[in-house]
Amino acid sequence: MASEKWAMAVLLLQLCCTSCGFCGKVLVWPCGMSHWLNLKTILEELVERRHEVTVLKFLSIIVDQSKDSALNFENIPVSYGNETAENYLNDFLNVAVNVIPKLPLWQAAKTLRDSFIQMTGVFEDVCRSALYNQTFMNKLRDAKYDVMVIDPVIPCGELVAEVLQVPFVNTLRFSMGYTIEKYCGQLPIPLSYAPVVMSELSDNMTFTERVKNMMLLLFFEFGIQQYDFAFWDQFYSETLGRPITFCETIGKADIWLIRTYWDFEYPRPYLPNFEFVGGLHCKPAKPLPKEMEEFVQSSGEHGVVVFSLGSMVKNLTEEKANLIASALAQIPQKVLWRYSGKKPATLGSNTRLFSWIPQNDLLGHPKTRAFITHGGTNGLYEAIYHGIPMVGVPIFADQPDNIAHMQAKGAALKVNFNTLTSADLLKALRAVINEPSYKENAMRLSRIHHEQPVKPLDRAVFWIEFVMRHKGAKHLRVAAHDLSWFQYHSLDVIGFLLVCVATLAFIITKCCLFTCRKLCMSEKKKRGNRKKRN
Ligand SMILES: *[C@@H]1O[C@H](CO)[C@@H](O)[C@H](O)[C@H]1NC(C)=O
Ligand SMILES: *[C@@H]1O[C@H](CO)[C@@H](O)[C@H](O)[C@H]1NC(C)=O
Ligand SMILES: *[C@@H]1O[C@H](CO)[C@@H](O)[C@H](O)[C@H]1NC(C)=O
Ligand SMILES: *[C@@H]1O[C@H](CO)[C@@H](O)[C@H](O)[C@H]1NC(C)=O
Repeated sequence: MASEKWAMAVLLLQLCCTSCGFCGKVLVWPCGMSHWLNLKTILEELVERRHEVTVLKFLSIIVDQSKDSALNFENIPVSYGNETAENYLNDFLNVAVNVIPKLPLWQAAKTLRDSFIQMTGVFEDVCRSALYNQTFMNKLRDAKYDVMVIDPVIPCGELVAEVLQVPFVNTLRFSMGYTIEKYCGQLPIPLSYAPVVMSELSDNMTFTERVKNMMLLLFFEFGIQQYDFAFWDQFYSETLGRPITFCETIGKADIWLIRTYWDFEYPRPYLPNFEFVGGLHCKPAKPLPKEMEEFVQSSGEHGVVVFSLGSMVKNLTEEKANLIASALAQIPQKVLWRYSGKKPATLGSNTRLFSWIPQNDLLGHPKTRAFITHGGTNGLYEAIYHGIPMVGVPIFADQPDNIAHMQAKGAALKVNFNTLTSADLLKALRAVINEPSYKENAMRLSRIHHEQPVKPLDRAVFWIEFVMRHKGAKHLRVAAHDLSWFQYHSLDVIGFLLVCVATLAFIITKCCLFTCRKLCMSEKKKRGNRKKRN
């Protein structure tokens, strides 16, 4: 029933959009790199449905602006040279890829936090350049946007929405320690069975693991936060001319689109305005380029292995590349390795290097047996979509945690990037290819992913259109937003009830004592009288 309703709603919307001319205007505050790939899919679908989409842009690295794109781009008039920001961002990426992976978790998180906070200055510049430029803001105001789509990894989008008085939709994968979802979005995270992101724990935790989970949350909440909240609270209040917090502003989002789904996540409670739309960018495979297809076909019955460490890792050390290459040389499968560094000396004849691969098309190829991945969410979802088991070589950020999810669901094995040996990689690769359980579990996840009442992309677009047509989705907003923390946890009520119980107990005891004493006294008197009589 529910699925039919959904399908009808989507169908009606499509009809409505193409026939009666409901066409909205969408303003986008993006974040870059892998996030953009996901967001772009949603935006292109919106354009397909005849909405007008404008992307605010301030760094070329953030958004790849292909020439044939149907999206409009609007440059934020940043006052400093855009090179400064690019340098900062490149430094950040350098730290993220080359420094953080070598650190233990807590130091890694701290370094990541420090890098983010360093970026605060750049983000503030961007924010100021946009909000304090009347010409620019008037231009946005005059365009009369119906909705903003915001990636809250870079602050300020929600402030623009607040100033323009436009409803908005947040799209994110996670914030460190779930701070944003939990405090700003009011998403409950029951620590007894919901592992904190980056913890690498599953939902079946032993006592010690639950202690670790709690400690990690406290560590993220009080030690590490991705955002410099105090700074942004002040900036937001100054800009609006009234006291407001960063979190409160983000919390005004009508819909939250989260880039995962229950094929990846462990089941946990969520709110009516949270939609889990993981894998919305996945598509059926297209034919491969001719030369690549020939190479894949030449693998015969053994099939091929696809290997990519993502777009951020361009070079490995020579030692590491050799180590990997010699492991790959020992399997009967052919290997397509996305790698643009120097050709390793130990590269086997079964392995071919490519500076770019059509990853989704390769993963969807019937000859593909396994995927060696760094564990970015986009790549994982492509593997889930096509039912390919994985060997995870996570490097930083959420990647180890992502791989831990796949491992808990039996569709992947993890090898440690820093202590990697040829033997480790070979063992994991052989297991994933030859033990049927990995393929079966990957196929199970794939079926879960495909059998949804409405496809993730349609759900994402549906809610954005809903917000445009109804100027928000306030009916889905929990009242928790209006409570203080002690009201939220009912501490005031518990306190009141405790006082009531205590008072009652006090009165009862007093009464008992009083009647007791009375009884005792009368007893004594009686006894006294009896004695006297005797
Ligand atoms: C900086 O912006 C100018 C124009 O806005 C552009 O021509 C130039 O390519 C940009 N530089 C970088 C490094 O993106
Ligand atoms: C304000 O924005 C406009 C374009 O929107 C730009 O031409 C102008 O240079 C900006 N002003 C300042 C002071 O940056
Ligand atoms: C949870 O893990 C324990 C051991 O760690 C295992 O005995 C138990 O069967 C698991 N429970 C479920 C529901 O998987
Ligand atoms: C990759 O390594 C080559 C030398 O092997 C070096 O010249 C190049 O700058 C490196 N590229 C990056 C992005 O680190």
